[in-house]
This record gives sequence, structure tokens and C-alpha cells, in this order.
Amino acid sequence: MTIREMQAEIAELKREKDVCILAHTYQSRDVAEVADFVGDSFQLSLKAREAPQGSVLMCGVRFMAETAKILAPRKRVYLAEEGAGCPMAEQLTPGQVRAEREKYPGCAVVAYVNTTAELKAEADVCVTSSSAVSVVKKLSAEDILFIPDVNLGRYVQERCPEKRLHFLSGCCPVHAAVTAAEAAEAKAAHPGAEFLVHPECRAEVTALADFVGSTAEIMDYVRRSDGREFVIGTEIAVAEHLGFAFPERRFYTLPGLICRDMKRTALPSVYRVLKWGGKPVELPRELIAAAGTSIAKMLELG
Ligand code: 13P
Ligand code: SF4
Repeated sequence: MTIREMQAEIAELKREKDVCILAHTYQSRDVAEVADFVGDSFQLSLKAREAPQGSVLMCGVRFMAETAKILAPRKRVYLAEEGAGCPMAEQLTPGQVRAEREKYPGCAVVAYVNTTAELKAEADVCVTSSSAVSVVKKLSAEDILFIPDVNLGRYVQERCPEKRLHFLSGCCPVHAAVTAAEAAEAKAAHPGAEFLVHPECRAEVTALADFVGSTAEIMDYVRRSDGREFVIGTEIAVAEHLGFAFPERRFYTLPGLICRDMKRTALPSVYRVLKWGGKPVELPRELIAAAGTSIAKMLELG
């Protein structure tokens, strides 16, 4: 079967089985082409809630499928590749967060959406990389326990000087591995290029950037820019999508920015679940209710 034949069959199967395919921007082009919607974590959570179909097939990692299930508990939600997780999501335990919260009476616990449902249930509000600054600004608490990504947290702190952010240790192993020397080298190799970076990168890398934003914000920035060349400081799929959308412009990647978990999903993963079925995401009802409160608050404030 060719890629085009598989895509055509996927299009038929999703109609027949009433499935909405959602794909994160880190998915490859052939997967993005069969999706009903491609976007960043914040946009995907909105779409999961709004989709008129009875089922959602998430092409991304587990926390994204869990978020979809929490927002649309009556829908059947499938993750295209069962084993695709986000290592950052599991770096803390609810017990650690509870103990840390005690240290800052009156604080708000803000959980990056890249967390397990159990951690979301521990939080007062969730954020994504695109909503974090606006959500934190709107909270009445001055002390914020921000989990788990210290790099995103530091980026939020810079933009919300009126708040005191506190951290436990956590980060994205893919973005945090980029060094300032690698970023400087890429800039030197492409002196005419703008440098666009995800806030999960370390401070010394974002300090060199012309723009810092979520995956969708980086893509929007390119759409609005008159620039011809860009160094893309996030997962290489974003540069791939931009390269197809703007063939007359040049997009350069940084070494090692490949999320192996995101890359587990390929077109046959989508085909397999649609054709032969998969295991729907199941979460206990109380967990859905508790985690749902902090996600709903993010959607309200973000
Ligand atoms: P976005 O919020 O840009 O979708 O990022 C999610 C993510 O996992 C980045 O590594
Ligand atoms: Fe998680 Fe990092 Fe992969 Fe995003 S890029 S899914 S934060 S490991």
C-alpha cells in the first residue's frame, strides 16, 4: 500500500467510524495530512472538547490523549501509539507537589499541561506554553508553585515580575539538551536568519532568540514575518511543516531536537487504530473531575 492509498483509506475509515483525528505540530507531514486539526497543546485541547465526532484519535503523546479524555469524558479517546509518553510529564509525584505546596501558604499550584492526570488533579490550574503567561498573570496568588518545567517557569517569571515563582526540578530532556554554544553556532552559520525558540529551552538559549513561543506561535510568527531564513529552536517537525508551507524560505534545525516519543507515531499507527481498533484511554471518574477543574480553569483564563 502506498502512503497516498493509506491516507485515502484513513479518510474513509474516520468518516465511517465518526473519528476526529487530532495531530500535534510535532507529527510528521503524512500524519498531519490526514488530521482534522493540527496544532499546539492548547489548540488541541480546545478541539478535543469541540469536536462533533464521537471519538478522538490523538496523534501525539499520552498527556495529550488524557487531556482530551478529561475534557470530553463521554468520547472514546485513542492514542495512536500506546507507548508514546512525554518523559517530562512523569518527573514528579503528587506527594512531592503536596509537600512543596505546604512551604508557600496561599500559593497557587500551576501545572504545565505536560503532566500526568494525577499531577493535574493536584494543581489549581493548568497552562500550556502558549497560555502560561496570561494565565499566571490573572491568578490572585502572588506565590506560584510552577511544575514541572523549570525552563518554561523561568520564562513565565521574566514576564510576570509581580509574581514569585517556585520550582521543583523538571524539564523537557529534548529542549533542555540544546546548549548556548549550539545555538550561537547555528546563528553564526546563518547570520541572516531569525532565531525562533520554544520556552522549554534553557535561559541561555532563549536569551539568544528573536522570538520565544509555543510551536503554533513559532509557525504564526513565520507567517507574519517578511524574513527569508529562520533557525527553528524546537522539534524538527516544525521546520519540516514550515518548509512545505513556505518553499521559497529557508528553515534550519538545531542538532538533536527530535522527540522520540512524538516520532513513535507514524501513518501506519493511525491506520491500525482506525482499521482494527485500539485501547481507549480510561481514567477514574474522580480523577477526571479533579484534573478537569484545573484544565477548565486554564481554558477560562487562557
Ligand atoms: P506546545 O505547547 O507548543 O504544543 O508544546 C508542547 C510540547 O510538548 C513541547 O515540547
Ligand atoms: Fe515531552 Fe519534550 Fe517530547 Fe514535548 S518535546 S513531548 S516536552 S519530551
